[in-house]
Amino acid sequence: MCGIVGYIGEQEAYPILIKGLHRLEYRGYDSAGVSMINAKHDLNIYKATGKVAALEDKCAAEDTTGNIGIAHTRWATHGEPNTVNAHPHRSQSGNLSLVHNGIIENYKTLRTKLENEGYTFCSDTDTEVLVQLIEYTQKSQQCDLFTAVQRALKHVVGAYAIAILEKENPDQLVCARKGSPLVIGVGTDARGHKEFYLGSDATPIVEYTKQVVYLKDEEIALMDRSGKLEIINLSNVHQTPEMHILSLSLDELEKGGYPHFMLKEIWEQPNALRTCIRGRIHVQAKDVLLSGITDHKEKFLNARRIIICACGTSWHSALIGKYFIEEAAQIPVEVEYASEFRYRNPVIYPDDIVIAVSQSGETADTLAAIQLGEQKGAFLYGICNVIGSSIARATQSGTYIHVGPEIGVASTKAFTGQVTTLCLIGLAIAKEKHTLSDEMYHMLIDELQTIPDKIQWTLENNQGIDQFAQMFTYCRNFLFLGRGYNYPVALEGALKLKEISYIHAEGYPAAEMKHGPIALVDEEMPCVFIAPKRGMYDKVVSNIQEIKSRKGKIISVVTEGDKIVSDMSDYTFVIPDTRDCFVPLLAVIPLQLLSYYVATAKGRNVDQPRNLAKSVTVE
Ligand code: G6P
Repeated sequence: MCGIVGYIGEQEAYPILIKGLHRLEYRGYDSAGVSMINAKHDLNIYKATGKVAALEDKCAAEDTTGNIGIAHTRWATHGEPNTVNAHPHRSQSGNLSLVHNGIIENYKTLRTKLENEGYTFCSDTDTEVLVQLIEYTQKSQQCDLFTAVQRALKHVVGAYAIAILEKENPDQLVCARKGSPLVIGVGTDARGHKEFYLGSDATPIVEYTKQVVYLKDEEIALMDRSGKLEIINLSNVHQTPEMHILSLSLDELEKGGYPHFMLKEIWEQPNALRTCIRGRIHVQAKDVLLSGITDHKEKFLNARRIIICACGTSWHSALIGKYFIEEAAQIPVEVEYASEFRYRNPVIYPDDIVIAVSQSGETADTLAAIQLGEQKGAFLYGICNVIGSSIARATQSGTYIHVGPEIGVASTKAFTGQVTTLCLIGLAIAKEKHTLSDEMYHMLIDELQTIPDKIQWTLENNQGIDQFAQMFTYCRNFLFLGRGYNYPVALEGALKLKEISYIHAEGYPAAEMKHGPIALVDEEMPCVFIAPKRGMYDKVVSNIQEIKSRKGKIISVVTEGDKIVSDMSDYTFVIPDTRDCFVPLLAVIPLQLLSYYVATAKGRNVDQPRNLAKSVTVE
């Protein structure tokens, strides 16, 4: 979704801003823009639809000089993606330029008021209202920009991260946030001058400095060329900047020889899961150590219920988590789409635990679901990947999945990291509640530790998928079917394929298929069965027969050595044997590869599929 970059210091801003926009491309966007103040105090703004490269082409013949600037990638919400609606937006007098992430809910009311004061608007956006409102406040109240931003934002309802330049004051960069993240990087240039970087996440900052300040909700920051950083909140209280050190490395943000981030991230899964498990399992004692659970042991021992809220792929991992936690820890678990949960007045008790699962930790609906849980007095737990993200900070306890930055829009290693973490959580609760025998507890821990190697095996033993995928580029529909723990895998397989190849795909519980989707089956319809030699194997075999007798094409994920399903299938992917509860961690791997190779064979942009965003910060 939208991205923000900013810089103030002694260096040329434009190359830093453009590089930063490239780093943010993974979030998904449809136009981009940049604004700098040059030595003559001109406030230049350039914008382009499409990719950052188009913006660079446009800027090639322009004056891009200046050592202060802001830049933006826009994912359209209000108004189509064109250069008028793209950010930065300029104020009526031309003195201010502003970029914005988020949505201003009362923008129509504000716009009407400003129109009555003589302001005119050229775009369809809610953002233009902000820049005019700040200018109006500054002029009518005769105050500096920092004060004007603070006063203006008191009238704004909605979510925002903003950065503003003032033509008359090229020594100061002002930014503010509420509900949409902003990170300030504090660096020192080669000549020892202090400089500030700004990003909607840390990716545009990490190559310049590791020292960052995460702006909090309702805070406004002033970055001064002299090196001073001042923060005030909407209630006029000055705040002391809290410095954090980034653990992110630059290597993690690059493709490392892979053609796409998605493929890199698929292959990273063995190591990512080793990191996810490391330190959480005491190998000799065969014990799970999760401080997020043990520090709040009483909450989990007395929990009436767990409610997991999530969106997209994270919702699928939550569903696997439900199956495991209910089985291992004997606590009822409900899994909710965060966007539904937050608006349907759900029953939440003070002895409920609300868990948010979110890779980015910034998904607006998931964050709102947590806030609803907080209002009802439930205990809040976060499962996030991005350290210091809004959900991680809004929850009372939690576990990071620690799989490293995920750049591809289609989630892969975050999914397996979330499933692994949910399994660790289920085991940790089971230990406290004594709901598993010691023998079973130790056996599951032993088995979980073998999963990274088994994923490696799966990656290495399904190498023909790239060739095989070529045959399916013509398909218009796909069906993914699984039962038990593998039903969520079917959902995830279908989501992966539709996200990046734009082929319509449905995931279904294999038995439920008879109640509708079977009507779609003919010789054109590939049906992907997750059919490990475990659990409901015989039942799945019957479901495969039902499809086969209607001439559907069978693609199956089978346990190594399986003959029965392999013989019934047109194509098989193999996985090693494991416990039922861990099969999803292996079975999803060939499905990720299948969607990747079908999409690349169709020439799709797999890392930035159309219309999708990595981090959905609007509801
Ligand atoms: C977007 C992404 C998905 C992701 C979902 C939830 O739709 O494209 O890959 O699963 O958001 O994101 P979260 O960061 O909360 O896990």
